[in-house]
Parts: sequence; structure tokens; C-alpha cells
Amino acid sequence: MTYQVTIEPIGMTIEVEEDQTILDAALRQGVWLPFACGHGTCGTCKVQVTDGFFDIGEASSFALMDIEREENKVLACCCKPESDMVIEADVDEDEDFLGYLVQDYQAKVIEIKDLSPTIKGVRLQIDRTMNFQAGQYVNIQFPDIEGTRAFSIANSPSEADVIELHIRQIQGGAATTYVHKNLQVGDELDLSGPYGQFFVRKSDEKDMIFIAGGSGLSSPQSMIMDLLESGDNRTLYLFQGARDIAELYNREIFEQLVKDYPNFRYIPALNAPKTKDNWTGFTGFVHEAVANYFENKCSGHKAYLCGPPPMIDAAISTLMQSRLFEKDIHTERFLSAADGATTGARSALFRSI
Ligand code: FES
Repeated sequence: MTYQVTIEPIGMTIEVEEDQTILDAALRQGVWLPFACGHGTCGTCKVQVTDGFFDIGEASSFALMDIEREENKVLACCCKPESDMVIEADVDEDEDFLGYLVQDYQAKVIEIKDLSPTIKGVRLQIDRTMNFQAGQYVNIQFPDIEGTRAFSIANSPSEADVIELHIRQIQGGAATTYVHKNLQVGDELDLSGPYGQFFVRKSDEKDMIFIAGGSGLSSPQSMIMDLLESGDNRTLYLFQGARDIAELYNREIFEQLVKDYPNFRYIPALNAPKTKDNWTGFTGFVHEAVANYFENKCSGHKAYLCGPPPMIDAAISTLMQSRLFEKDIHTERFLSAADGATTGARSALFRSI
């Protein structure tokens, strides 16, 4: 059974299969409803139903309150139609968003390597090319693990039949533990994508500051590769935060880019270097490295931040105190299972934009 769901005020009608959520159908048909967690915990995808019947799905009580349910509001990521429907949604399109359709892919693991003591680099060959924007992510299904998990794509979109991921093992996280302990070269996985609206605003001419913490390096790596490959001549600054040298992964890639591209700057920061590291670079947190480098004057840049919530919050505050407007700061937060427990999230890893 297929239902027609009309989305106002844009007036587009999508087809939604029985047992499919409105959000999933919309993303596969080129309607970019706003969303973040994708599973009923953040409320970003809330829409107003003006006509039709539906199953509200597993919307959490704090993302969709009782009073909102009485007003016929639903979460598009959970709601499944039970008749044709009409909804009102705030569809906000950015001129730099390319809007590639979400599709399903079969992937084969072609490489697994230790990037750091806690992060694995995994490369997947997919069954056909995927158009994606640097900064977007894929959802992956792992054997015997309920649901899907989101991981940012680390390679450039020019390498369109490969997906590279940087996966940190999260304590208690079923999927990341599976990747670190069980995943083998040759294994096959189902994935879908591309998702997400963390992407470079290429039409804005400002120089760019990228701030990455932990495995949050993946999106900035993809964005920087994409920009440099395409001959972009704006100045790009990458600030990479890590605990010590062993966790400062892919450093050699960025040191080589500094040699190859005069408009690229790389500033690594270690907050707890070991004595044996003989570290002579910046010591402190990555947001402190930004403040130090720019002497608290960041105005005139765009900033792209990717990493765990405390890093993002500290970096936003540093950038704003350094005169960067909120509209010029774009973020991708990684929330772990521990973060999710406090918000009722079910996935081991998800992100909000
Ligand atoms: Fe639907 Fe988060 S509640 S995207």
C-alpha cells in the first residue's frame, strides 16, 4: 500500500510506502525536511498534520509533548501514514545544498586500519557511485544490531565509489564495538545515504576555519580535500585536537597538504601530550589553539566544527568571543551512547546539526 503525502506550503506530494516514515520517503524523493537524530529524540523534524490518519511511531515524550500530540503535530522521522495526508513543514533550502537523493547501497569492506589506539579507519567499496557533498554521512546496518548507525564520510566526493569512515570505539556502543572487534575485510554491509546538512557554503567567499576533535576529523578531512582538489584558493585553516601524539591521526596527510597547497594551514593541538611525544606544537585544547592563533580575532571567516559536544560548545564560545557571528558557524556534534542515555536516544552514535 502506498500513500500520498502532500507537503505544504511547497505543495509537493511524495509517495510513502506502508511502514515507511514520512522523513525516509521525503529524503529519497528530494524533499529536504529538517532533521537531526533521525529517531524521535530531538524534535527537529516536527511537522503539523492538517489532514489524514497516521501512526505516531516511537516519538519520545520530550521531543513531542502531549499537548503537541493533541494539536496533531508529529515527528516526520517516526510517523507512518495510515491514509493520504497533508502536512505543513518548514522546508528551508540553502543555495549551496546540492540535495542528492538518499538511496540504499551494498558495501564491501576493503580495508580496516588502526588510525589511533581508539579509532579505526574503514574503507568500503559500494556497489555503484554515490553522489554526496563533503560533510555528509551514511547510515549503516550491522549484523544482529538493531537499527542503523550514522558515520561521517571522510573521503572526497571525487572518490565516489568508496566510503571512508573514522570509527572511534565507544564504551558500551554495540556497533562501534562490532567494528573494532568483529568487522573483517570482505564483509558486506547495507548502507544508505547521503544524509545531513553539514556542508561547505561555497558561495560565501570568506576564508574557512575547520575545527576537529577526535574522530570528528572525518567531515573536515572530506571538505578540505574537496576544496583543495577543486582549486579553491581561499585560505583554509585546520585545527585538529587530540589527547596525545598517538591520537593525532592522519597528521602526515595534512602536513603533506601544507607542502602541496600554499593556501592550507594545519594547526594540531594536544591537550595531554606524553613526555615521550617530545611535543613542540600547541599544548592545550583545540579551541584554545584557535584563540591563540587568531589572537581572538576571527571575524571575516566561516567556521566548520565537528566533534564531541564539549569541544563544539567550547569552540563556539571562543569563536563568538572572537567576533564571529553565529550565522558563520556550522557544526556537527557527535553524541555517544552516554550522551544519548540522558536524552533517551537509542543509537550508539548520532549527530545533531
Ligand atoms: Fe526526528 Fe530527531 S526527532 S530527527
